[in-house]
Amino acid sequence: MAEPRNRYSTVSLVLHWLIAALVVTQVVLIWGHEATDGPVSRELVSIHKSVGLSILVLTLGRLGWRIANPAIPLPAAMPRSQKLLARATHVLFYAFLLAMPLVGWAASSAAGREIIWFGLFEWPALPIGGGRETAGDLMDLHELAAKGLYVLIALHVAGALKHHFVDRDNVLHRMIPWIPRRP
Ligand code: HEM
Ligand code: HEM
Repeated sequence: MAEPRNRYSTVSLVLHWLIAALVVTQVVLIWGHEATDGPVSRELVSIHKSVGLSILVLTLGRLGWRIANPAIPLPAAMPRSQKLLARATHVLFYAFLLAMPLVGWAASSAAGREIIWFGLFEWPALPIGGGRETAGDLMDLHELAAKGLYVLIALHVAGALKHHFVDRDNVLHRMIPWIPRRP
């Protein structure tokens, strides 16, 4: 009998870690923006927009891949409540990884700001009016979503570490295959 798949595909691994790194980059860019003034500060927001829109596209690709290649089952020994919590966190991650860039894009469009993706081409604006007021409301939502995302990241990382150090199972190995597999 074929051995059951015990890790994510290389495409899933690359997308997971690339998107995770880009999300961290987003937060670092905002810190940099808040710590600086003038053109440097504006440039950091501009990079933040380009990275955010890249996350949107990568997440759509990741979801497509995920639908074509369903996730491997969680360990049978995991209680049902924990499986539910893990799956809910993942679903919410996907929702936030789509919603955050969409809201940012909508805010930028409402404010009539053009987005030049990494200085290479003009990213189309969404057909949203309302000017600065709508943009401000959307930015409030963007800020709130960032807080939600932080909660998800904390839960997710705590879960991953609990699997590794408390349950001592292979869940972390599935996402970091160079961690030796436990018997
Ligand atoms: C911003 C950072 C991160 C985001 C947005 C994120 C997102 C996700 C998502 C959406 C999944 C579900 C994959 C799927 O089945 O479709 C996942 C799985 C996973 N992530 Fe992360 N992740 C992040 C950081 C991390 C970190 C830092 C760790 C390790 C400490 C980690 C460990 C894992 C593991 C072990 C799984 C597999 C769980 C399973 O086998 O079902 N992630 N992550
Ligand atoms: C997953 C993708 C994204 C993440 C994780 C993210 C995260 C954040 C965070 C944490 C902040 C700071 C919120 C605060 O004030 O506390 C922020 C601000 C902001 N984001 Fe994003 N963002 C993303 C995508 C985007 C996109 C696609 C755009 C626009 C196209 C955008 C535009 C902005 C703007 C204009 C600000 C306010 C900067 C300022 O303070 O002037 N973001 N974002």
